[in-house]
Amino acid sequence: MSMLRSVITGSGSYLPPNIVTNADLAKTIDTSDEWITARTGIKERRIADKGTLTSDLATKAAQQALENAGIDASEIDLIVLATATPNRVFPSTAITVQANLGITQGCAFDVQAVCSGFLYALTVADNMLRAGNFHKAIVIGAETFSRIIDWQDRTTCVLFADGAGAVILESEQATGTLADRGILYSHLRSDGRYEDMLYVDGGPSMGYPRKGDQGFVKMAGNDVFKHAVKKIGSSIEQALKDNNLTADDIDWFVPHQANKRILDAVAKRIKLDESKVVITVHKHANTSAASIPLALHEAVMDGRIKKGDLILIEALGGGFTWGSMLFRW
Ligand code: UT7
Repeated sequence: MSMLRSVITGSGSYLPPNIVTNADLAKTIDTSDEWITARTGIKERRIADKGTLTSDLATKAAQQALENAGIDASEIDLIVLATATPNRVFPSTAITVQANLGITQGCAFDVQAVCSGFLYALTVADNMLRAGNFHKAIVIGAETFSRIIDWQDRTTCVLFADGAGAVILESEQATGTLADRGILYSHLRSDGRYEDMLYVDGGPSMGYPRKGDQGFVKMAGNDVFKHAVKKIGSSIEQALKDNNLTADDIDWFVPHQANKRILDAVAKRIKLDESKVVITVHKHANTSAASIPLALHEAVMDGRIKKGDLILIEALGGGFTWGSMLFRW
């Protein structure tokens, strides 16, 4: 059956140059390289300079994705940007990126699903492309998460960081089978009963706890960890079952990079060979919505991901929001 598919035709990423190591953090808070490495797998992270905005990181990633896809910004008619750290309350950060890229046609908007943001944004863009109303999209995950971190709170500040990744999605005619290139399946979930396990303690409607700030990330880390392994695991099991696949059919697993121990536990649960897992958490830490496209782009550029490979991605974020996706590169 002939149908439209959204095919990823290029990827890009951008990391701010400033590297902060575990040893750097241990100079200002009560932590150690040993603890952070053993509990999370993180060794270092990138932190944007004051004055560098989420839109700056996003624009650089988008420009590289356009270049790699070999298309001009004037061909883009949709921008969907996932972020929990927008430049400002409004307009959306996607609008600023649209202007930075000199795009005056189509539409641009943000999606907010925290660490699941890229998965949500890809799904939204995929549906808009397959409906036939839009044809070429940039989907971006970009964060300056360092701006919503309390740098005195050792339970969160060692975990999160800044960065951006982007992909170009183009609608193409396909056969409607799993052999097609492009997005093949998406499984999105959320459950607001868990909103108090991972949240920011301030916002425009609730007000801010401290004068002049934007609120800080609060997390019941241990509980989030357990929910992450369970919920991501069952989402992937659903994805495989719905498509009559097993973990052996997956060429590359590109998970949200929150904690190496979560990646290991999920891979073990779904019986996926660990050599198929793309890992960047040791050098990027948790960049929220940016983590999947950052890891994806790295594996594409170093030649691991090749045309025709079947890719599995997943994420869990505040809310909770979570899910998984299958696409063929
Ligand atoms: O992307 C969104 C989703 N987020 C996640 O998936 C994060 C999920 N959670 C995690 O990754 C882990 O739970 C953490 C890395 C946050 C924490 O690891 P844990 O093994 O769950 O440790 P814990 O929270 O149970 O804390 C163990 C101990 C505590 O001390 P006591 O109470 O046992 O004396 C903490 O106070 O480690 C202490 N601790 C630290 N020690 C040194 C917490 N943070 C630090 C730190 N350095 N940075």
